[in-house]
Amino acid sequence: MTKRLMEQVLAGENTSEIPVWIMRQAGRYLPEYKETRKQAGDFLSLCYDPDKATEVTLQPLRRFDFDAAILFSDILVIPQALGQKLWFAEGEGPKLEALKTFDDVKKLDESRIDDHLSPVYQTVQQIRSRLDDKITLIGFAGAPWTVSCYMLQGGGSKDFLAVKEFMFSKPDAYQALIDCLVDATSNYLIKQVDHGANVLQLFDSWASLLDPLSYQKFVVEPTKAIIEKVRAVHPEIKFIGFSRSAGANLVDYVEQTGINGAGLDTAIDRKWAKDNIQSKVAVQGNLDPAILRQGGNVLNSHVNQILEDLGDGPFIFNCGHGIIKDTPPEHVDQLVKIVKNYKR
Ligand code: CP3
Repeated sequence: MTKRLMEQVLAGENTSEIPVWIMRQAGRYLPEYKETRKQAGDFLSLCYDPDKATEVTLQPLRRFDFDAAILFSDILVIPQALGQKLWFAEGEGPKLEALKTFDDVKKLDESRIDDHLSPVYQTVQQIRSRLDDKITLIGFAGAPWTVSCYMLQGGGSKDFLAVKEFMFSKPDAYQALIDCLVDATSNYLIKQVDHGANVLQLFDSWASLLDPLSYQKFVVEPTKAIIEKVRAVHPEIKFIGFSRSAGANLVDYVEQTGINGAGLDTAIDRKWAKDNIQSKVAVQGNLDPAILRQGGNVLNSHVNQILEDLGDGPFIFNCGHGIIKDTPPEHVDQLVKIVKNYKR
């Protein structure tokens, strides 16, 4: 089979069309998602139900001419698989029983993860078997830094200060946690590819919070280690790294980790990204999700501007972060049509 459009772009080939998908494309802006989610009960039950998770993954593909489907799951299934308590309080986001000590880190149990995550692997297999050949299936995981944020803070936060406190006061324990996450995440991603994922994305949503030295140690190094471990088994697999709002640190990230595509956040200077990032790897992004929510002429002009700024090089159209939950689905259709009509 000839390579799918998105994989061509990630391999650095010149394609006439630009691929498009949207982070959180399966989600609450779609009435059919809300319906399936209601049937499943809570969010995590949906993540671990292969039939329902397959269904919600495919829902956006029935409506929109996307080039990729992304596995429906969450980055926090890894801490849960390692034995940490996780729950989603309605309207409040994720909650975890925060790790406090080196002993808490030592209790994490990697031997549990294959069993715990087997429904996810079944989901990957089902999605791939039902997906059109032309559509890329993206598997994913959270990157160790961002996952450690939730594990140590016990939930979302503006500054994740409890995480910094742990990192700087217990460096050995923090490094042990990162090492454990590198191993668990690599194994998880290898299994996703075994079951049919075509491309892998690493989400590092809180990369913006680190100073450059810590960024090197806890973003660049672990990301590089994961990519090496996965490629030892699947040498051809392509990675997209979404190191959100990492600014100029992105240069080290693309030069050192081995990623093939870099996610760009909304605020990045596209001229800078073209010269310093897109000259080395494919880029993905970076429409403001609030503009997608807005629709109309504002959406048209921003989408066209992004295509003009980044459309000459290897480029995957996306938002700069996940879609907002009250975005009208028609706006997504409007966006996809503009991108699909654009010819280089
Ligand atoms: O992109 C997709 O369509 C695939 C599925 C996906 C979800 N979460 C589904 C989800 C992916 C790739 C994620 C990644 C994820 N999860 C990240 C990294 C990306 C980012 O947004 O920064 C993070 C930090 C998480 C952790 C998480 N999960 C949070 C903070 C929340 C609450 C956010 C909210 O908007 O309520 C979740 C819940 C979540 N994950 C939902 C979905 C569709 C909403 C849950 C629901 O249906 O109630």
